[in-house]
Amino acid sequence: MKLSTRHLLGIKDLNRDDIQLILSTAEQFKEVLQRPVKKVPSLRDVTIVNLFYENSTRTRMSFELAERRLSADVLNFTAGSSSSAKGETLLDTVNNILSMKVDMVVMRHSASGAPHFLAKNIPAAIVNAGDGINEHPTQALLDAYSMKEKLGRLEGLKVAIVGDIMHSRVALSNMYLLRKMGAEVTVAGPPTLIPKYIGEALGVRVEYNLKKALQWCDVANVLRIQLERQNQPLFSSLREYNLAYGIKRSLLDSLGKEIVVMHPGPINRGVELDSDVADGPYSIILGQVENGVAVRMAVLYLLANREH
Ligand code: NCD
Repeated sequence: MKLSTRHLLGIKDLNRDDIQLILSTAEQFKEVLQRPVKKVPSLRDVTIVNLFYENSTRTRMSFELAERRLSADVLNFTAGSSSSAKGETLLDTVNNILSMKVDMVVMRHSASGAPHFLAKNIPAAIVNAGDGINEHPTQALLDAYSMKEKLGRLEGLKVAIVGDIMHSRVALSNMYLLRKMGAEVTVAGPPTLIPKYIGEALGVRVEYNLKKALQWCDVANVLRIQLERQNQPLFSSLREYNLAYGIKRSLLDSLGKEIVVMHPGPINRGVELDSDVADGPYSIILGQVENGVAVRMAVLYLLANREH
């Protein structure tokens, strides 16, 4: 089976079969990653550049590990230490890199649509590793993988996405994916951080009361407040945010039911998530990070395979 798309720009462009194919391929790679020898020769003749115009820890390392475990040749580009600081355009930078015979580009950029622009202008396959406030497709795929691994299904699952919905590319990619796979989604947070009309546009429920959202859901995917993207104050203070929307151990215990807590990282401890939740029994956060490598291996493998 092959993916229906040449690039992975967003979950918006994938169909159910694509998502299923990526998740089942990731399962095979997760098995490979449990072996003493974690490396396979699948992408031995493929060169991949990681173009990161924005800060990243997990996503960049996860992509790089995935590439190396598939035996690809890897080039790393970090905007801060590059010639973009000297005024070179994105397209010039990439064309220069491609003339060194690079096959795939993994890209993170603070401008929404940057990878889509690139896909129209260069021949290499592009994987979006996060574009502005638009999408972060591999995060949604690894979130889905982790939910399915933990709870056995996506269809009919009740997922609450909690926090800064407005500025989060993780939220948008998760909403697209979960709705396509038949899960029910509620977005929860303060009204100022939830876009108007999101319910109708994306087929999700909106809930401003955190406790009600938690009572309803099987999974709470908790987001960081993206202060770097807010150019005006959208709530009174981080302390008050924590009081109204922070996930606390006592609140989870009071629900008297099973609930799974997820977070894409980086966590702001004591703001959206208290430490005893992040490190406690409800959390599968480090499992998500582990699954990220297998999911990215699957995406890179399937896209490279499609090109041949
Ligand atoms: C997210 C991102 O960069 O979009 N982090 C990640 O990739 N794991 C979420 C965030 O920055 O809050």
